[in-house]
Amino acid sequence: MLRPALRLPPPLCPAICAATVRPSSSSSADCLLQTASALATFPPFRTAKTMALDAAKTSSSVKVDLSDRLKGLDKNVWVEYTGLAAKHKAVNLGQGFPDFPPPAYVTKALAEATNGANHLLNQYTRGYGHPRLVNVMAEVFSKIHNRPIDPNNEILVTIGAYQSLFCAITGFINPGDEVIVIEPFFDCYEPMIRYAGGTPVFVPLHPPKTKTDGMTKSADWTLDMRELEDHFTSKTRMIILNTPNNPLGKVFTKKELDAIAEICVRKNILVVSDEVYEWLIFQPNEHIRIADLPGMWERTITVRSAGKTFSVTGWKLGWAIGPANLILNCRVMLQNVSYTSPTPIQEAVAVGFEIEKDRIGSKECYFQELPEMLVEKRDRMAEMLQKAGFIPILPEGGYFMLADYSKLKNMPELPKSDEAADSVFVKWMIAEKKLATIPVSAFYSQGHKHLAEEYIRFCFSKNDSTLDAADKILTDWMRQ
Ligand SMILES: Cc1ncc(COP(=O)(O)O)c(C=O)c1O
Repeated sequence: MLRPALRLPPPLCPAICAATVRPSSSSSADCLLQTASALATFPPFRTAKTMALDAAKTSSSVKVDLSDRLKGLDKNVWVEYTGLAAKHKAVNLGQGFPDFPPPAYVTKALAEATNGANHLLNQYTRGYGHPRLVNVMAEVFSKIHNRPIDPNNEILVTIGAYQSLFCAITGFINPGDEVIVIEPFFDCYEPMIRYAGGTPVFVPLHPPKTKTDGMTKSADWTLDMRELEDHFTSKTRMIILNTPNNPLGKVFTKKELDAIAEICVRKNILVVSDEVYEWLIFQPNEHIRIADLPGMWERTITVRSAGKTFSVTGWKLGWAIGPANLILNCRVMLQNVSYTSPTPIQEAVAVGFEIEKDRIGSKECYFQELPEMLVEKRDRMAEMLQKAGFIPILPEGGYFMLADYSKLKNMPELPKSDEAADSVFVKWMIAEKKLATIPVSAFYSQGHKHLAEEYIRFCFSKNDSTLDAADKILTDWMRQ
């Protein structure tokens, strides 16, 4: 039986949901505050290590050691900074989620799925993907990839894109295998590779050689293809790509992807292509899917997310698409970790795709409307940051913007710390200015964190009222 001291804190999600599902008349700032205070009422966030230490104090007989596989993986940027934002009731431009409502047709479909005539939609569905969902996704993505996609064998539905990434990495990586990761990278790639026993090998995107005081763009960050190729060894099994990139917002060009594809074909390398922001591309940029390049379909697993597609990040539904023999390995992992994903969520996402499938490419399509709305928010954010003295990097896609804070006039005296300077700065800003962002060093490996120490990441997928609140904080701060 568990001793009381070993009990985990109550789960956070229901409280967050209860606090964020509000009448539409409420302002988003209120909504954020409610979310924040709901989170703040829970015990402080604790790492697995501190929990284990506390537990060890209360009992010497219970073996609470973290498994060897998880040692070193206990720190998590989202746990840390989402917790801090909540604790300080900060305006949250940190974690990447829209605070505006998703399209009404998906929320209505979810209500209907749980409460409608077919009560079986509240029960388990097919393990690898709900039939209605995989069928409509096969239709949509066959058109996108311009090849027939088999709904039953070439699509795997998972709990978020996170789980697709986990299945794709653990389904192939053996101890000793190397995986190329392009920096900056979405943070979970590294612990997933290490968990599988693999070794991540980091290759940086290079910022422009000379720093300017004016705004730059994420396209200016480039991959040195020679340097990339030099990092491949006989042990390299996989490369993980992310376009549009989180945190940078870089949309890889056809030329760049052709060069990467050529190396992968020549060296027989698998590709996991994280394309969760595939619809969030700002004109005139174009999203190129590496799976569609010559020789690439058979070696590529493309990962996508309903959270980003329909602005429902809390639904945590993702999927992997690729040839049947690659998806098979991912299935083996999935059937042993969660077996299936929530049926009502899959049903509602299926309805969403059914509504959008025939208008993809037209103005009425949500996948078109969303980037059009976001590009205005991007431009507003860039203006707001410049006015405050930051140097923004204009993204071509996604919903994040990096900004260099090193030239700020009102820079505080920051405490000395072993942590990267951007982390110290962000923690100060959350506590003192009540504005939450994410330090960019969190998207770099341990040895390379210094490369990002002058940048922080802002999420601009927010209601105008949230952006107004952030603008006011920055303006007041710079007036001081
Ligand atoms: C690049 C990238 N990949 C994967 C994910 C995870 O997506 P999901 O919430 O569907 O698990 C995110 C979420 O922010 C992301 O930014």
